[in-house]
Amino acid sequence: MFPDLSSTLQAIFRWFHIIAGITWIGHLYFFNFVNTPFQGGLPKELKPQVNPPLVLRALYFFRWGAMWTFLFGLALFYLIYIQGGAIRDAEGHLSHRAMWILFGALLGTIMWFNVWFVIWPRQKKILGAMLGGPAAPPEAAPQAALASKINTYLSGPMLWGMIAGSHVNLWDMNIGTLVVALVLGLGLIHGLYARSRKVPTAL
Ligand code: HEM
Repeated sequence: MFPDLSSTLQAIFRWFHIIAGITWIGHLYFFNFVNTPFQGGLPKELKPQVNPPLVLRALYFFRWGAMWTFLFGLALFYLIYIQGGAIRDAEGHLSHRAMWILFGALLGTIMWFNVWFVIWPRQKKILGAMLGGPAAPPEAAPQAALASKINTYLSGPMLWGMIAGSHVNLWDMNIGTLVVALVLGLGLIHGLYARSRKVPTAL
């Protein structure tokens, strides 16, 4: 009924990896395309009432989504590329599938680092201050916002890297295909940012 253990684990891990990835990147897009414009129109005196319960909830799914995506991603990398040997092609060179996933995984790992070591520690200070704790340092908000914007831009090319090796068949990794991945990935995110500032909020 099931193939060998490794293929079964790959199927299950891939499914968890993608569910966790959707949870993570979905919240990232919520923060950047919905919440940032919303906060711009929210009166300052309402922020302590609105933001801790909303943003702490969203940050919970955001950061744990990032952690599980990363851990299942590493497990998949081990099963498919190291144990399964997909890291090398028939001639023993680094395979194109591996090049794409290394590109995607590198961007994903930078994003995971930003979530856990840049965004979350700063958000804890910002929201902690709203809940009556010590004032957040003035650089906390711009640093968290910059890391979040970098992650949003990286998500486009990162996802291309996740799927190109195993689905966009015959896409060798070379300068041309890399440029296409970057232009499409970064261009789409740029368009979503532009659109997010113009979404009508009255009917
Ligand atoms: C955080 C670092 C990440 C690492 C180390 C990682 C690693 C991996 C690996 C090794 C695979 C298997 C690729 C293959 O079959 O050749 C994979 C697949 C995949 N990853 Fe990631 N990943 C990461 C982040 C993400 C994120 C944030 C998403 C967003 C949703 C994502 C979405 C996917 C998808 C959709 C696949 C399935 C591709 C397929 O079936 O061919 N990954 N990932």
